[in-house]
Amino acid sequence: MARVIGTEAVEDGWRRGRTVLEVLPGDIVTEMARETAVRLGVRLADGPVERPVPVRTDGVTAMRRSLYRRSARWVAPARTVQPRARRFSRLAIIGAGGVGSNIAHLAANADIGDEIVLVDIVRGVAAATALDLNHAAGMTGTGARCLGGEDPGLISGADVVVVTAGRARMPGMDRAELIDVNRRTVHAAAEAIRTQAPRAVVIVVTNPLDEMTLEMLRATGFPRERVLGMAGTLDSSRFRAALAMAAGVAPADVDAIALGSHGDEMAPILSLARIKGHPLSKFLTDDRIEACVRDAVTGGGQILALRRSGSATVAPAHATVEVLDHIRGARAGPVPVSVMLAGEYGIDGVVLGVPAHVGPTGLVEVEILQLTKAERAALVSAAEAVRARLSR
Ligand code: 2OP
Repeated sequence: MARVIGTEAVEDGWRRGRTVLEVLPGDIVTEMARETAVRLGVRLADGPVERPVPVRTDGVTAMRRSLYRRSARWVAPARTVQPRARRFSRLAIIGAGGVGSNIAHLAANADIGDEIVLVDIVRGVAAATALDLNHAAGMTGTGARCLGGEDPGLISGADVVVVTAGRARMPGMDRAELIDVNRRTVHAAAEAIRTQAPRAVVIVVTNPLDEMTLEMLRATGFPRERVLGMAGTLDSSRFRAALAMAAGVAPADVDAIALGSHGDEMAPILSLARIKGHPLSKFLTDDRIEACVRDAVTGGGQILALRRSGSATVAPAHATVEVLDHIRGARAGPVPVSVMLAGEYGIDGVVLGVPAHVGPTGLVEVEILQLTKAERAALVSAAEAVRARLSR
């Protein structure tokens, strides 16, 4: 019997982790359902589609698996990789310094799109990096072609624009001290994006992250869905790495996230953190947990202090590519990003790091986690701190 496929059916499929929805001959798909499918990255495929052969397992094996998971030898499940990751037609990166060029490098290696474009005001830098990356393509075999230059027009038609341009901190500096100088850079980037890539999803990496994401949102006039800040993936990775090191386990055995602002008001979420599926207290004393929290909060500053000029580059680049992978459907589930909140977690009208589902058109929805009262309060005070810094 012919079915009417509406928005609900698409959303329902998406929630169950489906990336393809079968449309049988005679089915009616509403216009809204088609728009929702594009927004969520669900492909409407003419059916009948071939079904994968279900993997069957006997009861004893299934039981052993579930017991094993609860045992001390629990291993974290592998991250889900969707088989149908989308390729970008043009990924643009504004700012070809340490972070920007590492993003381009990782993105080219992952064959993330047809073109990777680097723009930087420093003469020759973006073009040289692009050429260098193209030279490596003979070995990596990537299909991504790199372009670089000073002309903001190069970002024309990009589906995603990553903004890393701006001054980095010097040792001893607070990220907030960069507000005035980097605000001008972000506004210049926003102007280029608004005119050259008006449909792009923007990922802000420039510091201070939450404040600059808010500036980007205001300056482009884009909806909140299309302006995201990258920080939570980096902070969460630093937090997981610190916990893994302290507990003497592999980072893959650690499940933990950090939310809030990318700075002193970062909120590593202890109540939900797990090592091999167990609460942190099974492996670490309170003091050691506290030291891991400190490592996550001060991670960027530690690199800065060692390097003396210039901030971290490799981990921020990996963290940005993680967000890009969620946008293109190569990774499933929520990812921590900075977004303008509209009542979620009781916060409104300010940008803050929260877990969110993202897709080809940016933010899909903010994931609401069951936090403790203290963790919710930490998010609210982080929001107030960001708001206060911007109104100074
Ligand atoms: C960091 O935390 C660059 O803010 C960035 O390393």
